[in-house]
Order: sequence, then C-alpha cells, then structure tokens
Amino acid sequence: MKLLVTGGAGFIGSAVVRLAIARGHEVVNLDALTYAACLDNVASVAESPLYAFEQADIRDRAALDRIFAAHKPDAVMHLAAESHVDRSIDGPGDFIETNITGTYNMLEAARAYWTQQGKPESFRFHHISTDEVFGSLPADPSMQFTEETPYDPRSPYSASKASSDHLVRAWHETYGLPVVLTNCSNNYGPYHFPEKLIPVVILNALAGKPLPIYGTGENIRDWLYVEDHADALLLVVEKGELGRSYNIGGENERTNLELVKTLCAILDAKRPKQSGSYADQITFVTDRPGHDARYAIDPSRIREELGWRPSVTVEEGLEKTVQWYLDNEAWWRPLQARAGVGQRLGTGSTGTTTGSPAQKTPA
Ligand SMILES: NC(=O)c1ccc[n+]([C@@H]2O[C@H](COP(=O)([O-])OP(=O)(O)OC[C@H]3O[C@@H](n4cnc5c(N)ncnc54)[C@H](O)[C@@H]3O)[C@@H](O)[C@H]2O)c1
Repeated sequence: MKLLVTGGAGFIGSAVVRLAIARGHEVVNLDALTYAACLDNVASVAESPLYAFEQADIRDRAALDRIFAAHKPDAVMHLAAESHVDRSIDGPGDFIETNITGTYNMLEAARAYWTQQGKPESFRFHHISTDEVFGSLPADPSMQFTEETPYDPRSPYSASKASSDHLVRAWHETYGLPVVLTNCSNNYGPYHFPEKLIPVVILNALAGKPLPIYGTGENIRDWLYVEDHADALLLVVEKGELGRSYNIGGENERTNLELVKTLCAILDAKRPKQSGSYADQITFVTDRPGHDARYAIDPSRIREELGWRPSVTVEEGLEKTVQWYLDNEAWWRPLQARAGVGQRLGTGSTGTTTGSPAQKTPA
C-alpha cells in the first residue's frame, strides 16, 4: 500500500511512518515542520526506498493537489494537527486553521484525486482523532467513551478536532468518500515532544526541577503506548469498515498524580538520586481552565471486529519510555530550546506565557 501520512514528523505520525515502512508499505510523509515536528523521529527510515518526504502545509490546497498527483497514494492517514491543549487555550486560531480548515483542504484534495482516479472503492481517507471530542466523564468506572458517545468537546483543541471529525463524516455521507475514523486516548512513548506531561516529568526530574501537577492531580487519563496506537491505526486503514469509527485505548486509567509517582519510582530505580526520591520534587500548580476530569475508552469494537490488542502493559510501556529518554538526550535536549517549551502555557491569559520560574510546568 502507498500511504500518504500527514504529520509524519510528529509524535504519533512518526511512529506510524516507522511501523508502516517496517511492514513494507510505501510512505509519503507530508509535514509542515511546525515547532512540534522533528525529522530525527523518522531518521531511521529516511534512507529507505519506501520513504518520501514532502514539506507542505495542509492549509495550502495547491500544495496538496500537487502531492496527490505526484505520489498517487492508495490511502491517506491524516494526523497533521495542532495537538497541545494548553497552546489551544492561549492561541486557538492556529487550531481552527490547521485542524478544521486544513482537514477541509485534505478532504477536498483527496476527493478531487479519488474522483480523477475513477472513485476506486479501495481508497481510504483515515482521519486520526482524539477521545477528547467526547468531553469529560465522571469518576464512575462503569462509564466509558464508546463510538456512540455524543460529542461534547470542551477545549479549543477538542472542539477543533470534533469539527474535523464531523467534516470527515459529512464527506463520506455527501460525496461517498471512503473514510474511516479513529478516536484515541492519551499516547506516550519514545519521541514524545518535551512539552507534554510524561516527558516533562522525566526531564524535570532529571534536572532537579519541580514536577508540576495541575490542580490536585486527580484528573484521570487512559494511557496508550504510541507503538500500539500505530499498530491499531495500520489495522484500521487496512481492514476498517467504510464510514466506521473505532475507539482506541489502552484500558490503563491513572490519575495524573499516580502516573507521576510511577514515573518517579521508575527513575528512582534506574537513576537513583543521592538522597530521597524524585517524588519529593512533585509540586501542585494552578489547574488548567476547563480541565476535563476523566477520559476512559471502551475499545471493544476494535478488539472484537479487528482483533487489535495492545502489546505492552502501562508498567512495561512507562519503563521503556523512561529508558528511552535516559538513552536519547541528543534527541530531547535541542527541543527544549523551542518556543514555549518549559514554560507554563494555557492559563487563560491571552497569548503570553505566565508563572514564576518555580511554576514553569508541563502540559
Ligand atoms: N498525542 C496524543 O495523545 C493524541 C491522542 C489522540 C489523538 N491524537 C491525534 O493524533 C494526531 C497526531 O498527534 P501528535 O501527538 O503526534 O501531534 P504532534 O503535535 O506531535 O505532531 C503534529 C505534526 O503535525 C504537523 N503539522 C501541524 N500543523 C500542520 C500543518 N498545518 N500542515 C502540515 N503539518 C502540520 C507538525 O509539524 C507535527 O509534525 C493529531 O491529529 C492528534 O489530534 C493525539
């Protein structure tokens, strides 16, 4: 299969690119190379004859038409997006333009190409989305997001992703574009950009800095190892039923405080401090405005219909992740110098970074 992967220089997209090439697919990686991108993420496959790179912005329709015509993909896996909730609070405009207008451009470019090819039934437009479109769950463990859960996005990021999901469904219903959708829980793993919670905790711990926890740390997230997500995405693009969406989750619910304590325990074992525990560096900071209380995915559909299973437990995945950051300082160190990284974002004060140095935190 020849896959056009958008956002393939980002965290999840690069995992998809690496796995797709390992499985013998051809990949065209389309990425604008924003602050969140890193071509080192795909360095291991960059010399493969199966790999091509196109630097392009999904807001640029003419560039998309050129890339479709030049590469003639069998399927699109659309991951390019602005992805950081805190940045969406400070500057929602980029999220509207990339996540909504950019997805509209991708749909129109794909539709024009698919029509010009004679509307092959085998073509796929796979839209990769988030569980955050479903809103926030109460603590009751029997309640989980299913594919039937009504949309209720609550941040500029999740609202922009919900909008793009609606566009994708509309292009299927109205124009017959062969689409599949996935909504995934929080990912973690190698190459996670160092403004997100897990890398921030690991790197702040090693640097002797505070480990910032929003609010009381009771917010619950459902964690999925990024390579298991990439595996699920390839399964859906190859075998997913047309027009259907699949929820992908690791069934690994943790409060943020539990997660940070687990990371501290792994670091205590792997890189002990001279005295005390990394957990001593935990610091509670002002909560994110509109912070969703709980996300939890019911992955029954992808498990029962497509046979997908995650390959690692969250304990194994976190252990591998910590080890990866310990082994790959040359990857993460330069990224810490990028704009906004290491600063408290998303407090609701327009467009500026805030907080005393002691409060500078994750995401
Ligand atoms: N990270 C998660 O936990 C998570 C969970 C569920 C779903 N998702 C979704 O998965 C996708 C990938 O997430 P991620 O965490 O890898 O994001 P990321 O921020 O790490 O990477 C996004 C990539 O998209 C590129 N990009 C951004 N704007 C672009 C534009 N206008 N044109 C072309 N390329 C552009 C960036 O350069 C970057 O390489 C997103 O659609 C996100 O909504 C993420």
